[in-house]
Amino acid sequence: MSSYTERMSAKLEELRGKDDIVILAIESSCDETACAVTRGRRILSNVIASQIDIHKRFGGVVPEIASRNHVMSISGVVSEALAKSGVDKHDIDCVAVTYGSGLLGALLVGVSFAKAFAYALDKPLLAVNHIKGHIAANYLAFPDLEPPYLCLIASGGHTAVAKVSGLDEAETLGSTQDDACGEAFDKVARVLGLEYPGGPQIQKLAESGRNTVPLPTPLKGETSYDFSYSGLKTAVINYVHTARQKGEEICAADVAKSFQTKAVDIMTDVALRAAIDTGMKKIVIAGGVAANAYLRESMEKKAREAGIKTYYPPLSLCTDNAAMIASQAYNMIKSGRACAGTDLDAVASIPIRA
Ligand code: KG4
Ligand code: ZN
Repeated sequence: MSSYTERMSAKLEELRGKDDIVILAIESSCDETACAVTRGRRILSNVIASQIDIHKRFGGVVPEIASRNHVMSISGVVSEALAKSGVDKHDIDCVAVTYGSGLLGALLVGVSFAKAFAYALDKPLLAVNHIKGHIAANYLAFPDLEPPYLCLIASGGHTAVAKVSGLDEAETLGSTQDDACGEAFDKVARVLGLEYPGGPQIQKLAESGRNTVPLPTPLKGETSYDFSYSGLKTAVINYVHTARQKGEEICAADVAKSFQTKAVDIMTDVALRAAIDTGMKKIVIAGGVAANAYLRESMEKKAREAGIKTYYPPLSLCTDNAAMIASQAYNMIKSGRACAGTDLDAVASIPIRA
């Protein structure tokens, strides 16, 4: 008898010609335990058990606590996603799971569950790259979107520009040399006394702020497409600490607005330059920071002036969810990717092209 992987790879090959593929996807790379069921590019269910309230009191995600909570939630989240989708588990075509990048212990929970689930049901398993999942969220919103395009990826762990030349092909053109943009939003929010996750709070506060705080412009390589957020983040923290030491009042809204402007402008400038240099006519934004209203508006405006169209997912699909993982699994099937084996392991850091 042939091995599980051989039989499942043959099943995946059969699925390649089918459009209404039913995928059950699991995501547990950080602090959301998520499961979704999709048919083609249509979301049948998208369940997210967020741990934000648990990690809030620590000012950020505590990896060990995240892993334990994934263990407690995953079974219920998968049952709920199946029930809401109306699909019987035996009618799923394929199981997909995020295997990297992310917190190792957190990823392991999803990977272990997905392996057992797929094996028990005799279904193929696909190992999905979290960042490619963020990019693929855009196909759920825009089923007619087609590569090639330039992608600006901005999440809590990544900041990069990539050239996407196929459904499963992405090549990094530049990335952050230190902190990710979302991480800088979270740290700045923390020094201003705002709750985790800081991105949405900074955006809200910035609405009533002015660009009055003098801050450095992050790394502005004329030739590279790399980013750096550590200097900007430290400058904001120093500004706030110095004012406090002197007993001076700071205007938190002005700090939020000045930081957001610097953090976002550099991303939109680099993305536009990379798109023009590579002859791309589309810019796609992906990742949690893609939820930022100022980023969406300014990217759209700058790109439009250059004759480039901008795409971004609806708010609900910007931050971590499993529907985006299912969407990338669909891309992988269409691209002829092989089935993951029962030896699949979680990996803390993988390149965008993986
Ligand atoms: O992609 P994501 O959900 O998780 C990772 O894969 O890292 O991104 C989470 C990040 C957090 O840093 C959060 O503060 C940021 O996305 N974020 C935002 C906004 N909403 C979420 N940053 C700026 N503005 C927002 N509206
Ligand atoms: Zn993410």
